[in-house]
Amino acid sequence: MSIDFRNRHFISTQDFEKDEIDLMMNVSYEMKKKFALGEPTRYLPDKTCFLIFFDQSTRTRNSMEAGMTQLGGHAHFLAPEHMQVSHGETPRDTAIVLGRFGHGIAIRHCKFKVGNPFLKDLCQHARVPIMNLQDDVYHPFQGLADLMTIQEKFSNNLKGLKVVISWAYAESHLKPLSVPQTQILLFPRYGMDVTLAYPEGFDLMPDIVDTARRNAEKTGSKFTITHDMTESFKGADVVIAKNWGGFFVGDTEEAIRKEQAKHKDWLCDRKKMELANKNAIYMHALPADRNKEVTDEVIDGPWSVVFDEAENRLHTAKAVMALTMGGRP
Ligand code: CP
Repeated sequence: MSIDFRNRHFISTQDFEKDEIDLMMNVSYEMKKKFALGEPTRYLPDKTCFLIFFDQSTRTRNSMEAGMTQLGGHAHFLAPEHMQVSHGETPRDTAIVLGRFGHGIAIRHCKFKVGNPFLKDLCQHARVPIMNLQDDVYHPFQGLADLMTIQEKFSNNLKGLKVVISWAYAESHLKPLSVPQTQILLFPRYGMDVTLAYPEGFDLMPDIVDTARRNAEKTGSKFTITHDMTESFKGADVVIAKNWGGFFVGDTEEAIRKEQAKHKDWLCDRKKMELANKNAIYMHALPADRNKEVTDEVIDGPWSVVFDEAENRLHTAKAVMALTMGGRP
């Protein structure tokens, strides 16, 4: 295994070997321990990370900003509408210039079929690491925080753990595919049995599903797709019920919302959670559409680990930044 992460781009967990992800997790645990003890983690003194957000964020932006401060550096928030990209400046020129000013560039760009190509364009031209803060395909920082949370709750041997990743109804906005796609790619690599549940038509990207299946085959874990939410919860150890937009059921937001509205019964409630195993946990990347995706009773109840999951965004963000922007002298 190479321990040299310097200047490596962090676009998808799929770009990293499993033992490299293990190292990211170990560093995340170290960051968490030091945070709890009030010990300094100044691994990036005087370094700058540029954060470009094409979309709204609470957890991602603030875990990166707080994380950079705790690492001894500075995170510089950039809104594209105040950048020259809004006048058509290319990703290439943006990457070259910001790369000359600082030490890392992190971007959230979730627009379907636009975000991931934009990030890939930056990667080709930046001489500093590009970090994916969520695009239309992947949300790797969320994936690491989710993995950390599951490891904390179930220990390191996750072989055979049943994880249900279920679509759920929402109205707030068309949520990207990138959270469930990252989860179905990552969890089978750790031996977890993934059940993906969604109403007919709300498919994830076919190439991502194919890769997830191959990941499962390699570790001998199960990868199952069902269109029955209730059935999927039976015997689950981990339930992750959240919305994704259904970008293949309609061409316009109006058409997709019309399709979504047919599935308001895809709600994670007590009755369904009681079908899961006794010690099952409920996870959600947040923000949640309360009482549409999940009832208050579940998200605020004994199953829920959503705030531990959110906190782990900080520790994993610090680990990835320290490894890619810092590293060996
Ligand atoms: N889970 C997550 O990415 O949250 P934000 O959209 O608030 O960053």
